[in-house]
Amino acid sequence: MEEQKRLAEELVEAKQRTVSRSEAKVKAETILEKVKSIYGELLEPREPVRNPEEMVRRLRQDYRLLVDRELVYLVVAAFLNGRPVLFEGPPGTGKTEVGEAILSLWSGKNAFVLPCSENYDEYRVIGDFHPLMAMKYGFNEESFIPRPLLAAVLLDAGVLVDEIRRSSEEFQNMLLDIVDKRRIIVPELRRVFRAKGLGFQVIFTSNPEDIAQNELSDAFLRRVVRVKFTYPSPEREAEIVRMRLSSTPRLPDHLLSTMIECVNELRSTATHKPGPADTVLWAQLAAKMAELRGSSTVSLDDVVSAARVVLFKRDEDADTVEEVVEKFFGK
Ligand SMILES: Nc1ncnc2c1ncn2[C@@H]1O[C@H](COP(=O)(O)OP(=O)(O)OP(=O)(O)O)[C@@H](O)[C@H]1O
Ligand SMILES: [Mg+2]
Repeated sequence: MEEQKRLAEELVEAKQRTVSRSEAKVKAETILEKVKSIYGELLEPREPVRNPEEMVRRLRQDYRLLVDRELVYLVVAAFLNGRPVLFEGPPGTGKTEVGEAILSLWSGKNAFVLPCSENYDEYRVIGDFHPLMAMKYGFNEESFIPRPLLAAVLLDAGVLVDEIRRSSEEFQNMLLDIVDKRRIIVPELRRVFRAKGLGFQVIFTSNPEDIAQNELSDAFLRRVVRVKFTYPSPEREAEIVRMRLSSTPRLPDHLLSTMIECVNELRSTATHKPGPADTVLWAQLAAKMAELRGSSTVSLDDVVSAARVVLFKRDEDADTVEEVVEKFFGK
């Protein structure tokens, strides 16, 4: 009799377990459906690119990014070892754009970008509850709004965490835990969301020279693969500028090399050091000025006018920039 009662109880418990498991499955679909309806449009899938040689080629062809072969191999190796990557280097060296492009190629979907700030927390990146819906339905999946990091886990997409030093240490540790274990826990929902494929990868960016930012903890640095970004050689920088300029109006070679000498000098003398991003913008503005004048060739005057707006970033650099422009362009 006792035995029968125990068996009956076990049966009921087992049934309840099955019900709650199938309920959980329905709920999982609800969140996934929400994620798809919010972010799906941004993520039309393409064939993932996991071969580093192909990646270098596609970065150049599809994204007009000139990226070191070794850097791409390192990132792919890190991903295959389940490690997040940290891109560190001075402003304008391509950290954000290269990171986003590599993640997008790797997972075959546009990467999510999280621009960090001091007050970033799990509610901003994982999800939060709609206040009115929560009042009506309670704190459950109905009122839950999934945010980009959870969306990336569920959609098997990459995440670029931009300017990680701007976030708090607590936030950094939370991210590392998610990346390490490839899952997100939402205690309010009593749910664990797991990454299903290899597409979910994370690249952090950081500029260590930016003084008004937090240091990265030892724990953080131990877990990420650190990849340094530096200024390109003059030849590579010229190639980058050429890749980003349309063929008309033409920027003569001698002007471009002088521009690159000029930015290299400012990199050792000015407080605001121009990156390749500034050189590209400088060349693009000068070319636009020539086009507006109806000329087919960029002139020295176009270059000097554009220099004055692109290279002046801080008042304290005014004299330095003026001297350097005069030294290289005689104006
Ligand atoms: N390797 C590169 N190939 C092509 N363009 C490049 C490259 N490096 C820099 N650029 C130029 O710089 C721009 C991208 O700079 P990006 O904003 O990614 O730099 P960043 O290192 O993230 O800078 P910041 O520290 O200011 O955020 C591109 O739009 C392009 O003009
Ligand atoms: Mg950036």
